[in-house]
Amino acid sequence: MIDSFALSRTDLEIKKIVKELYAVNLDGYHELYLERRLAHYFQKKGIDQPSMIRDLVINQPHITQELQRELQITYTRLFREPSFFRKTIQLAKALQHKKSGIRIWHAGCSNGSEAYSLAILLKEENILDKCTIYATDINRKALTDAKRGVLSIKEIQSTIGDYLTAGGKYHLTEYFNLNGDSAVLKTSILNQIQFAKHELGKDHPFHEFDIIICRNMLIYYQNFHQQKLVYAMKNSLCKGGYIGLSNCESLEGIADSQLKLIDSGQNIYQYLVQ
Ligand SMILES: C[S@@+](CC[C@H](N)C(=O)[O-])C[C@H]1O[C@@H](n2cnc3c(N)ncnc32)[C@H](O)[C@@H]1O
Repeated sequence: MIDSFALSRTDLEIKKIVKELYAVNLDGYHELYLERRLAHYFQKKGIDQPSMIRDLVINQPHITQELQRELQITYTRLFREPSFFRKTIQLAKALQHKKSGIRIWHAGCSNGSEAYSLAILLKEENILDKCTIYATDINRKALTDAKRGVLSIKEIQSTIGDYLTAGGKYHLTEYFNLNGDSAVLKTSILNQIQFAKHELGKDHPFHEFDIIICRNMLIYYQNFHQQKLVYAMKNSLCKGGYIGLSNCESLEGIADSQLKLIDSGQNIYQYLVQ
């Protein structure tokens, strides 16, 4: 088995093989994170020699996608960090009279729970129909799930407390059609979100967003790559627009005087141009 020691002895070779054979772009991922994920993956596969990786790829080419999925952590949940949603709703309410409407982008939306959560709260404030919401991710499987809007009833029940802390006013279950153990988000919410595959930092930037939400994604990347991702987001913001990160991320290591921290509790930055 490859433990972290064994991996660190062979990691250069392993990364080289993975890059060559899988055509997976490993640049930019945080070294420690990458090593942990690769070690975990190869351990699961019973691989302990770099040469075995070559055999695995030649005999089972489909595992390219499996490895890519392994590198992408897609964990998410409804109303994760509820106070972030409370703050974001305040920002959206302040923009509700904008003639062009409010443009919101969830970058790294995973299975859509984050975008569903905000859309539900926007609906309660009667501003959902003034918003254009994009939600993008690099992971096709997560996006397929996001577009279906299906969650387990257990997950919904376990997030009712967070929904209320986020400012939710009614009953969370009202937004879902219940079906056995699962619940499907009502189309009045789901159809307001446009899901698309998009790799932040690589694919074309978007334009003129008022609010970009990118939480629990930067953390997996090295500083130089984070800069690239943040630059792509900044280029997609309108002047005065906001970027919201998670409570474990910040732009501290990113020297950009135009992105000002306006809420240190929620790690929200504003694009201010002199
Ligand atoms: C841990 S999840 C976070 C989901 C959600 N934002 C949240 O905070 O609950 C990170 C997501 O970012 C996506 N991701 C990672 N790098 C990306 C990139 N460069 N462009 C788009 N999505 C990316 C992953 O596929 C994953 O679904």
